[in-house]
Amino acid sequence: MKKVKAAVFASGTGTNFQAIMEKDNLFCEIVLLVCDKPGATVIEKAKGYGVQEFVFLPNSYSSKVEYERELLEKLREKDVEWIFLAGYMRIVGQTLLDAFEHRIVNIHPSMLPKFPGKDAFLQAFQAGVNKTGVTVHFVDTGIDTGPIIAQQEINIYPDDTLETLEERIHRVEHQLYPQVINQLIANEKE
Ligand code: GRF
Repeated sequence: MKKVKAAVFASGTGTNFQAIMEKDNLFCEIVLLVCDKPGATVIEKAKGYGVQEFVFLPNSYSSKVEYERELLEKLREKDVEWIFLAGYMRIVGQTLLDAFEHRIVNIHPSMLPKFPGKDAFLQAFQAGVNKTGVTVHFVDTGIDTGPIIAQQEINIYPDDTLETLEERIHRVEHQLYPQVINQLIANEKE
């Protein structure tokens, strides 16, 4: 059976990208990695998996509209139907949102709407709460505000350090995101 094609957008280490690539029986084919940070580790990971990458420098374009138009061209060339953000540190603009309505998904390391934005696990750690979590949601114009698809709660223990918490959050992310991706694609086929 032919698999639906998808792109991952990432800016950093790419452990979530890796978890998606390593998922047994992923229901889509990742045909493109889009990265806005030349030198990011995720680019090497994409090369290792033989996934074509498109690396761009946002500052070399006059506007978000301009670079997103170029991204759109690349995505269309590759027949991409889904975009999965995995640590993509930019706000997605209207150009991509209009072209991929309800087809851009993000993973965020907190129980949204709690702790949106950057360093969500640090925010939770510093707030002294005993629970946080992971959220997978559709992307809209806001920062981590789109409709929630799935969430998983995570305990914060008194002896946790930022590192142990981060590790626990990542473990949950790496399991949850590929699962939710498959679920979204399966739902569409029903
Ligand atoms: C993850 O914690 C994800 O939830 C957030 O950015 C981080 C990316 O990590 N959006 P990695 O690059 O996948 O390791």
